[in-house]
Amino acid sequence: MSKVKLRLLSKQTLFHLSLIVMLGFAWPTRGHADTRVEDFDSIKLYTISNTSGMTIKVTNYGAIITSIMVPDRDGKLADVALGYNRVEDYINAVDKPYFGAIVGRYGNRIAKGAFTLNGEQYSLAVNNGPNHLHGGVIGFDKVVWTAAPVGGENAIELSYLAKDKEEGYPGNLRISVTYRLTDDNAIVVEYLAETDKATPVNLTQHTYFNLQGEGEGTILDHQLMLNADRYTPVDESLIPTGELAAVAGTPFDFTEAKAIGRDIGKEHQQLTFGGGFDHNWVLNAGPQVDGLTLAARVYEPSSGRQLEILTSEPGIQFYCGNFLDGRLQGKSGKPYEHRGGFCLETQHFPDSPNQPNFPSTILEPGEKYESTTVFKFTAR
Ligand code: GLA
Repeated sequence: MSKVKLRLLSKQTLFHLSLIVMLGFAWPTRGHADTRVEDFDSIKLYTISNTSGMTIKVTNYGAIITSIMVPDRDGKLADVALGYNRVEDYINAVDKPYFGAIVGRYGNRIAKGAFTLNGEQYSLAVNNGPNHLHGGVIGFDKVVWTAAPVGGENAIELSYLAKDKEEGYPGNLRISVTYRLTDDNAIVVEYLAETDKATPVNLTQHTYFNLQGEGEGTILDHQLMLNADRYTPVDESLIPTGELAAVAGTPFDFTEAKAIGRDIGKEHQQLTFGGGFDHNWVLNAGPQVDGLTLAARVYEPSSGRQLEILTSEPGIQFYCGNFLDGRLQGKSGKPYEHRGGFCLETQHFPDSPNQPNFPSTILEPGEKYESTTVFKFTAR
């Protein structure tokens, strides 16, 4: 039978905490500039397993998926999600990789951290060059969520109340994210949100995958299909120009599966700006499966593992770990090298609050933000 197991991280964390303090390393305390944790004992790790051999681990710190154990074509399990065993490693990770987290209130960039809504100007933290990224200095990935196993289901619901003016955004925003592990090896992510004041909302899941296993080299041989004829080209600070450009005839064409590394080194201004692929693709309207669009399919030839992503969102940010450089060592002690993982972040387009031609990301009071993304694993 499927089950949700609850395990407290706190004892382990405290042990590591004292060890770290003894060794003289910095430990984030209450009020640490980059995180908001009132009580480290409230941070827990949940294990969810299904009847098909798959197990995921989720913590209520940042609603992070810390581990995804998936069988290969011979049934051999590997952890395909980059991440850590200890919460302090998530907090202290250099360059803020957002491993496995839910990012928000606005996933991706808002130009210069500024937008106007209903005649009012808002200014958000500028935390990525000249721009605002992933909800600010303390986004949803750096706060403690409330977790509740969903009764009778193989699922956990995480909720968070983002207060009015938190990170500069308008409105009290109640969010819930449910992770559900199905017996056919899919992780279903359901997002719900409501606000009491009009606000931009763009939530996404920021897992870095390596289908060979975390820490097992680069993802350049993974074969990627993106169901998108167009993408949103960017300026040098990765803000969309507003154009929806055709991928045909460019390195951005993943309409037929190809190795991620095949065209990544080609001469192309957009690849220079992104340091590789770090762009939003505009998903084609069809085909739809149960009301969701097949957005992406990734196949790893040596293990046979395959990941399919279906979503209700109009876009997907494909980021291929260009900022990883081997300094971060993951849960099994292996360095996460340059392009050692990829993210496929289902979302609305970057900078939508400043781009009148993009689908709106404004949630009004009385409306419901509802979004679903499915990560489905198979092996062949
Ligand atoms: C997103 C961004 C990238 C980078 C990563 C986190 O994918 O588009 O530029 O900031 O998050 O490192």
